[in-house]
Amino acid sequence: MSALPLNLDSDVVSLPMPRLQPATLEEALQRRCSTRTFLPDPLSLEEVSGVLWAAFGVNRPETGGRTAPSARGWQEMLVYAVLPEGTWRYDAHAHRLELVKAEDLRAATGLQDYVGSAPLNLVYVADFERMHDVRDEDRVFLAGVDSGCIAENVYLYCAGAGLATVVRALIDRRHLAQALNLKPTQRIALAQSIGRIGLIH
Ligand SMILES: Cc1cc2nc3c(=O)[nH]c(=O)nc-3n(C[C@H](O)[C@H](O)[C@H](O)COP(=O)(O)O)c2cc1C
Repeated sequence: MSALPLNLDSDVVSLPMPRLQPATLEEALQRRCSTRTFLPDPLSLEEVSGVLWAAFGVNRPETGGRTAPSARGWQEMLVYAVLPEGTWRYDAHAHRLELVKAEDLRAATGLQDYVGSAPLNLVYVADFERMHDVRDEDRVFLAGVDSGCIAENVYLYCAGAGLATVVRALIDRRHLAQALNLKPTQRIALAQSIGRIGLIH
């Protein structure tokens, strides 16, 4: 994979279309695991692009269908990319990043030490305004399931691309919601750290 540097100088960053990895699905399933030790090396723009597309990108442009399923097709999950340079919201339809905050918020994405130095942390946020005609407890449950589908996509993409990842529920959600300027109707479901595989995991 060529190493297009992350150039995050503007508020909107167009992402290159990811090149699919040669690993088979069976190989990716065989390699899938959680890793909590990351090298500090930054990811390339192609790698960030590939991870985001796998997470919840558009795989059927004619219908707007996404790489992960969602209950009732709500597509309610917002994906935030928290990088050393700042935090960005992923616009799946334009396949680009939109700046939320030009600060390093990585440490705020979880309660474990490694999250502050992982090169990329994704945060999966359910937008309850997109989830209609559903009981409150079902809304929370379905948002959790939908975010889990996204997380598994990222696990498999990373396994195929030789990247390390771990999904995380251990989050101070109130603190992170404030840091991300979320609305009361937007709820953090899960986070996921991604990087290069460190020596110990
Ligand atoms: C919903 C969910 C929440 C998790 N939360 C955390 C977490 O907060 N921190 C962490 O280090 N690992 C977390 N994990 C990763 C699990 O600990 C891990 O998947 C489990 O130990 C099995 O290891 P494996 O993924 O390598 O098979 C979580 C996994 C899931 C599915």
